[in-house]
Amino acid sequence: MVFADADLGVGPTASAVLSANEGLLARAAEAAGFSGKSRAVLDLVAPAGLDLDRLIVVGLGKAEALGDLGETDWMMLGGAVMGALGSSKAVEIVMETSEGALAPELSAAFAMGAKLRAYVFDRYKTKSDDDDKSGAEAKKLTLAVADTKAAKKAWAQADAVSDGTVLARDLVNEPANVLTTVEFAKRAEALEKLGVEVEVLDEKAMKKLKMGALLGVAQGSETPPRLVVMRWNGGKKDADPVAFVGKGVVFDTGGISIKPAGGMEEMKGDMGGAAAVTGLMHALAARKAKVNAVGVIGLVENMPDGKAQRPGDIVTAMSGATIEIINTDAEGRLVLADALWYTQERFKPAFMINLATLTGAILIALGHQHAGVFSNNDELVERLAEAGKATEEKVWRLPLGKEYDKLIDTPNADMKNTGGRTAGSITAAQFLQRFVNDVPWVHIDVAGMAMSSAKTEISKGWASGFGVRLLDRLVRDHYEG
Ligand code: BES
Ligand code: MN
Ligand code: ZN
Repeated sequence: MVFADADLGVGPTASAVLSANEGLLARAAEAAGFSGKSRAVLDLVAPAGLDLDRLIVVGLGKAEALGDLGETDWMMLGGAVMGALGSSKAVEIVMETSEGALAPELSAAFAMGAKLRAYVFDRYKTKSDDDDKSGAEAKKLTLAVADTKAAKKAWAQADAVSDGTVLARDLVNEPANVLTTVEFAKRAEALEKLGVEVEVLDEKAMKKLKMGALLGVAQGSETPPRLVVMRWNGGKKDADPVAFVGKGVVFDTGGISIKPAGGMEEMKGDMGGAAAVTGLMHALAARKAKVNAVGVIGLVENMPDGKAQRPGDIVTAMSGATIEIINTDAEGRLVLADALWYTQERFKPAFMINLATLTGAILIALGHQHAGVFSNNDELVERLAEAGKATEEKVWRLPLGKEYDKLIDTPNADMKNTGGRTAGSITAAQFLQRFVNDVPWVHIDVAGMAMSSAKTEISKGWASGFGVRLLDRLVRDHYEG
């Protein structure tokens, strides 16, 4: 991404193009059925009578005025434009509206949209795919702006968040034979170069802490468990940190309660929560956020072998609570039980937000359009919902309550790890709530959002990096300074 001065003479300005070509635009729009619907694209290649190779018109929808469009709108426009660029290699875009120069933050948001749309995961392709040039990764995008210095400054912030999102996507995309628990921990350790303090707890350390719930999941795998603690101290010295906790099941076979074969490959993405936490810590550190933040990820692999845990086993969590394992495929909540307890006990955080690809049931309820959220704190979850609207990483609250909580009672232990066929996402959340104490807390079930997610202007689908922009926004709006 390059920002250049607007007066470098990169073609006619938007207003000049518009006023000189109303007839052409109207005819093209009519022929293509383009009505200016939000983010729709009208692509005119080599328009006659214009000194341009390409004129891309993007719909703004029903915005009353250009000023109504915020950062996320401009980000989505950047994505839509990048999606329309096809095989063009170097592109120059003048960031100017009919009302004058675009604010630096909005230019940066546009650039972020373009960068995220260009993302492809092609690390394992040994030959380039000629017919897929939608991955505009090889493009050089020059944005001509009024104030280069201000735009570069805004871009440094936006790019930190873009890079965090890309990191989360990469982690989700990596196959489990590469991204083992140990390798994931290494990638988290790489955040040290941004000033993040990273600690990696191994099996021995977790045994000492009596993390029987997490360790029970890990015991059927050759890949050893890890708990990674990432700390970014950008806030006041004695301010309580905000804490983010992620489910990091690098592969979920289901364990002894093994999953059906069809689609099981998708379970390489069962660490999407941990990926989002890692991506968020990257974003906060890279943009030097004025906040103290802790990221904790529980890394395990859920495999069936001779040492694997069985249905009927009873394990003791770090909190001291005993858990009867009914289904070894309900493993994420076991990992989080210890990660959440550890986080609140050690850090006494101002709040704790966990992200997890926790239940298939959340996909049935909310599809790929909203993540499900559960909370013990109205203010926190409302702030999160606001951040969701602002970033278009949307969340929808579902209920918690005593009547659901009792569904995970069992005569054999303090609780069981599944609640039966109905309300599966809620009983999973009730389980987590038993390990958060009184800390303000939100659980975000990202099973429908982190992976196999819908195509959008800024994502070609599957790994979306969901959660990084959302939580960065929450922090930026309420917990900095
Ligand atoms: N990782 C899965 C949830 C999941 C399913 C994520 C589909 C993404 C897409 C989780 O560990 C799981 O297996 N949950 C079970 C719980 C059940 C055994 C109570 C489920 O949702 O079926
Ligand atoms: Mn599972
Ligand atoms: Zn899982």
